[in-house]
Amino acid sequence: MTLPERSLATAQVQAGYDPRTEVHTAVPPIYQSAAFAFSSLAEARDLFALRKNGDIYSRAANPTVLVLEERIAALEGGIAAAGVASGQAAVALSLLALVHQGQHIVAASQLYGGTVDLLHDTFPDWGIEVTFVDQDDIDAWRAAIRPTTRVLFAESVANPLAQVLRVSEVAEVAHAAGLPLVIDNTVATPALQRPKEFGADIVVHSATKFLGGHGSTLGGVIVDLGTFDFTAHPERWPQLTAPYARTGGGSLVERFGERGSPFIALIKTKYVHDLGPTLSATSAFQLLQGVETLDLRLGRHSESAEKVASTLADHPRIAKVHHPSLPDSPWHAAALAYLPRGAASVFSVDLVSTGDADGDFALVEQFVERLRLLRLVANIGDARSMVAHPASMTHSHLTPDQRAVAGISETTVRLSIGLEDPDEIIADLVQALG
Ligand SMILES: Cc1ncc(COP(=O)(O)O)c(C=O)c1O
Repeated sequence: MTLPERSLATAQVQAGYDPRTEVHTAVPPIYQSAAFAFSSLAEARDLFALRKNGDIYSRAANPTVLVLEERIAALEGGIAAAGVASGQAAVALSLLALVHQGQHIVAASQLYGGTVDLLHDTFPDWGIEVTFVDQDDIDAWRAAIRPTTRVLFAESVANPLAQVLRVSEVAEVAHAAGLPLVIDNTVATPALQRPKEFGADIVVHSATKFLGGHGSTLGGVIVDLGTFDFTAHPERWPQLTAPYARTGGGSLVERFGERGSPFIALIKTKYVHDLGPTLSATSAFQLLQGVETLDLRLGRHSESAEKVASTLADHPRIAKVHHPSLPDSPWHAAALAYLPRGAASVFSVDLVSTGDADGDFALVEQFVERLRLLRLVANIGDARSMVAHPASMTHSHLTPDQRAVAGISETTVRLSIGLEDPDEIIADLVQALG
């Protein structure tokens, strides 16, 4: 619609666009708008009271982000999802929605370093306690649960050593105690594992990694798998079961229990709304482009990683290859059960140690500097192959004890195997080992 003749100042803002215009784009468009026009005040009132679905303001909801949310929820077999600014925001918000001051989390010791920082440092600042357990010790999970525990948390495939979690066994412990299991499925992605099939209740992703797949865009997703019954112990979850003032009376369970997800409604209307870790429409669009080729890419990533792992396993300068596809890996049986479509392409190798810390650092430095194809980058899940040194990079904030429990030594080098020709990736690694 063209407006009648206006002054330049008005025309430069309004000419040529009617907010009611509908365009039937074949590809999800980028709705790069901070806010949306209401057709009437009555509609605005209904939308703010969550009586009606629709768009208000892009901090907590945006139509392009919604496409990504619905797509990831579908891939994970979930009922609803929330897109957020980063994987870190997805982990933080999924847990903050479940655990309050004075309450407690049981988490695996084998986690991405940023998640350890959050759980070990920031959450205690807010009066949230965390017990870390060896993820393979099922009795330790059970023993760590307290009356104040509200959630169990782990990665389905741990970063950086690719330990494979026995999800069903941890889920069983959680459910026996009436608690939900939250799984970070970043490294596996739903192309390799759907944690819901093994009893998980909520899945989180750093979409920055394989979902986006091209290392260009930060993002995170929280998915409610719809399996956990918060009404079985309503006193534990007043944020979901008691009247919720923000939506004008009634609890979120009453409001969304039948249609949608009370948990995702809480994440969006409280935590994303109040704290503001918003996923932009442009980022959601870029992540959607990646998601469209997820299974194709993951097949190639996994196949190449297995080839690299089996070649390096025989190399005299490599002390250990931590890859679950190798028959001598402690996680080989778990990989067969939990990753039947292919094992992870993020894993680690330990170089043969020199016997002292300075010598080991120099050894890793020399190896990394000799690489020509693989790049030294603090990221995983890119189309490009990359290496990182967890002890001085992603896991440098951990204490030496925490690193030891996670299986990380001074000579551990993380690999993220990309989509290049696998023979050329192997040739580069072998020449760099010398
Ligand atoms: C397993 C895992 N979870 C969460 C994150 C955090 O994601 P982001 O960097 O998108 O904040 C990362 C980042 O490396 C990760 O590897």
